[in-house]
Amino acid sequence: MVRNPTGATGALVLSCGSTRCVFTGEARWLYTAWKTADPAREVSMSTTDTAVPGTPDCFDPVRVPVSGPLEDFLTRPGTGGTDTAAARDRLADLVARHLLGEPGALVLTGLPTEPGAARRAVLRVTGLLGSALPQNREGELVREVRDRGTAIGEGSRARYSDSRLGGSPHTDGAEAPLPAPDVFTLFCVRQSERGGALRLVHVRDLVRELSGHPDLLAVLREPFHFDRRGDQGPDEPPTTAKPVLFEQRGRPAVTYLRSYVEKGHAHPHVPPLSREQVAALDLLDRVVESDRIARSGKLREGELALFDNLSLLHGRTEFEDESGHPRLLLRTWVRLDDALYG
Ligand SMILES: [Fe+2]
Repeated sequence: MVRNPTGATGALVLSCGSTRCVFTGEARWLYTAWKTADPAREVSMSTTDTAVPGTPDCFDPVRVPVSGPLEDFLTRPGTGGTDTAAARDRLADLVARHLLGEPGALVLTGLPTEPGAARRAVLRVTGLLGSALPQNREGELVREVRDRGTAIGEGSRARYSDSRLGGSPHTDGAEAPLPAPDVFTLFCVRQSERGGALRLVHVRDLVRELSGHPDLLAVLREPFHFDRRGDQGPDEPPTTAKPVLFEQRGRPAVTYLRSYVEKGHAHPHVPPLSREQVAALDLLDRVVESDRIARSGKLREGELALFDNLSLLHGRTEFEDESGHPRLLLRTWVRLDDALYG
């Protein structure tokens, strides 16, 4: 028997014969399939390889095999001149339709996964989109997203991207002052067999769901203190103040990672979160964690994904590295060229 999560406990109960397993909390985002030795007793925990049980992979409609000038530009080092212009035109068309339209993401498929080639491709696509932004005080332009054995927000510097844990819907650059990175890219070099699916919530859907609580919506439009994760300069405070919901590029935008906000307000120079602020964040979390407005999908090896970081909150399911094949994504943050906003 498979029983789906219920709102009260968020628990997922699987039972088969005398065996019974209960998963709670963020484990609701886990995906897996269980098989017993007897095929007649096969038990399936969710219907798809995604983070929202029973939903199709949200990337399928925006998976675009790279070809022609765009493929040449991303995979052949010597490409330039008119080929570059053609590659940019092709990408601009896809960006307008999918990245800045629906669903706020675009996945280029069929790229080589050799790490050097992957790094070149992710830098080249970033160059077509605009300019790469540093992702920490060391100025890293290409960040390896992999399990470094830390917990989210652990110590003064550890980040979501250093862990294997799931949940914690967020935007990239939540620890940095505004303006937020317009876009982030992920090149999937190695994917985990178990876990690692992405879960997306669009700010448009989030605001619509929150519209019944105008008082709390207003609180989210006032500044919170986000912990800088140690990226601040020697004369800068360890937090940056910014609203969770704001406007950038004339569009509704979101910046968020709950534990960075909580750590920010735990600093001695910052007032603790007020009751209204906690209530607003709790409501936001409940809405975002609801499967009603979430979409999910899982990147495959050789895919290069682009995400609208102003519009999308994202999280992932906890993953497990396999021996000799640890999950590895390469990430850039992008300031998008003005021309691409039309
Ligand atoms: Fe992220």
